[in-house]
Amino acid sequence: MDNSNLIYLDRNEYNFEVAPLVEVAIRNFSPIEFTHYTRCFQKGIKSELSQYIADMYNVPEKNVVLGYGGESILKSVIHCFLSQGHRQRKILIPTYSWWYYKSIAEEVNGTTTLYPLYEDGYEFKYNIPEIKRLLQEEKPDMLLLASPNNPTGNSLTLDEIKEILNNVDPQTIVVVDEAYTLFNQRDISYISPLITEYPNLLIIRTFSKFYGLPGLRLGYAFMGNSLKPFDGFSTMYLGFNRLSEKIGIAALQSTDFYAEKAAIMRSDKELYKKSLNPIPGFKVYNSDANFILIKYPFEWKEKLQEAFAKENIVVKFMNEEGLRSHIRITLGTPVTNRQVIKIIENAAL
Ligand SMILES: Cc1ncc(COP(=O)(O)O)c(C=O)c1O
Repeated sequence: MDNSNLIYLDRNEYNFEVAPLVEVAIRNFSPIEFTHYTRCFQKGIKSELSQYIADMYNVPEKNVVLGYGGESILKSVIHCFLSQGHRQRKILIPTYSWWYYKSIAEEVNGTTTLYPLYEDGYEFKYNIPEIKRLLQEEKPDMLLLASPNNPTGNSLTLDEIKEILNNVDPQTIVVVDEAYTLFNQRDISYISPLITEYPNLLIIRTFSKFYGLPGLRLGYAFMGNSLKPFDGFSTMYLGFNRLSEKIGIAALQSTDFYAEKAAIMRSDKELYKKSLNPIPGFKVYNSDANFILIKYPFEWKEKLQEAFAKENIVVKFMNEEGLRSHIRITLGTPVTNRQVIKIIENAAL
């Protein structure tokens, strides 16, 4: 089947051009570099990229983790801390979150407890008193927070993250998945003090979303000093992919370029709200990410599915308990976004 005419807005990918510096990094890469392992270890660092990230975020290089996408960092941290010893280990994750968290925990026979998010106006909020209660009651080995969360698109504030961290046993590892951060805020200055103050913390980021390089498979994270066992678990003794390192650095140097794309996405998120919120039964949630979540009248599901299929646009019709009346749509180009709005408006006629 030829799918080349389909527009994919279902996996939160990037629909704009690649930063010029990234193109230059790829073009200038000499394949001769692939004939040897990196010699970074002689300088006592993992990679040129981890050093670049360390300088940019003002953290020691030893506290920076690299991985094959945020996915592999998530997988290795969960495997590392949920598979130790003989007893079954436990992780707390948000309801309405990336399905993959639970699946990774199951790979190592970990148990998952879902903590609730509650709908408040145009957002899904974290129920912090309930998280505190569950922390007391369940004594989990790991707590996972996603900010912004997928598929709800809303974030925790720094004060909320601290409030949760202040109520966590120091033995519990806290993972904050920030895959979708940077779309709505560019502050990175809190990372260094946070991992210093909370040594049981791991903050995961990626090049796949804001930096628009999901096909590159490159993620990074910042770990507090209590995650020492994870260091050995995640570090690649023979170094990292030498081309990816260079592309990653070029992407970080292009932060302003990608911020311009994020601003275009922000303005189109407003357009979605302005256009679709007035339609009875529709609700466009606030989003800090590169996607939006829309509630629609459930009886329209087939009609909407047909309308999107006819226009060759693939969106994500949610199918989980509590979100069966929702679609998650990745921000496309301004032209595609207007086309999507038209499809929904026409279906509503
Ligand atoms: C919430 C969340 N975290 C992490 C990821 C990982 O992305 P990647 O492995 O491409 O960095 C995704 C991808 O969609 C995601 O939705």
